[in-house]
Amino acid sequence: MIRVLANDGLEASAVKALEAAGAEVVTSHVEQADLGEAVREYDVLIVRSATKVTADVSEKAKGSKLKLVIRAGVGVDNIDIPAANANGIEVKNTPNASSNSVAELAIGHMFALARYIAISNVTMRNGEWNKKKYEGSEIFGKTLGIIGMGRIGQSLAKKAEALGMKVVYTDLFGKNDKLAYEFLSLEDLLKTSDFISLHVPYDKNQGSLIGKAQFDMMKDGVFLIDCARGKVVEEAALLEALNSGKVAGAGLDVYEEEPTKNTELVNHPRVSATPHIGAATKEAQTRIGEEVVSTIKTFFNL
Ligand code: MLT
Repeated sequence: MIRVLANDGLEASAVKALEAAGAEVVTSHVEQADLGEAVREYDVLIVRSATKVTADVSEKAKGSKLKLVIRAGVGVDNIDIPAANANGIEVKNTPNASSNSVAELAIGHMFALARYIAISNVTMRNGEWNKKKYEGSEIFGKTLGIIGMGRIGQSLAKKAEALGMKVVYTDLFGKNDKLAYEFLSLEDLLKTSDFISLHVPYDKNQGSLIGKAQFDMMKDGVFLIDCARGKVVEEAALLEALNSGKVAGAGLDVYEEEPTKNTELVNHPRVSATPHIGAATKEAQTRIGEEVVSTIKTFFNL
């Protein structure tokens, strides 16, 4: 019998489907310090972002039953993939499942900022009526620069276009000839966009992608959305850009450290903040569960 540890939980329908296929699924959480020893008893380890599959975890699991780690989500920055592979463990993710949910959240942050929805929620609860102060701007007719035109970027582009935005993009892999949107260099995108939305993984060798130099290139009054990874943007530089007015608003779902302790940033009147909920929809979690089940069934021929 295949034994599966879903250390950060798993959608009930996926647990049922795995059990129906003859697997045993354990959804209780093993603390990080005990994980390497504990996973030796399992064939599969499923994680979201909370559990870190470090080199130490993989080394401790070496030579055991553990053959597969699945990241129930897109970003694999919490898994040391070379170390896992070197210890005979394959790593998979669920790249298709959450694109639409993350793209919808990015659109939500754009409206929250451009129409002062986020701050109105805060100030109205304090008894304020800031009707005159909150004259916003439409997103219709504005240029949205998408950094990272993978599945999420493309989903966002379609929605933004339908809302009347002009979409431009840049991507590490260059121009995608299948897409009709204008491809720009990162520098040109920063200089011309009214809204910038990030959809790239964090590369620890490269470091952050958006720091002071990049903020300086942006248009005055730009809106920045980060639903990708917190470390892609330098928070100190972002705060400076918000305080100087260079950045009119920042929509943040991700932070350098999570849970974030950067209260100055999340309390900033021109920040719309959410606690890494890009993929936290019923639909995305159901699709993630389905992808996880299909990956396990294929891997073990169930
Ligand atoms: C992902 O990489 O799938 C998202 O950031 C969502 C998550 O980690 O829960």
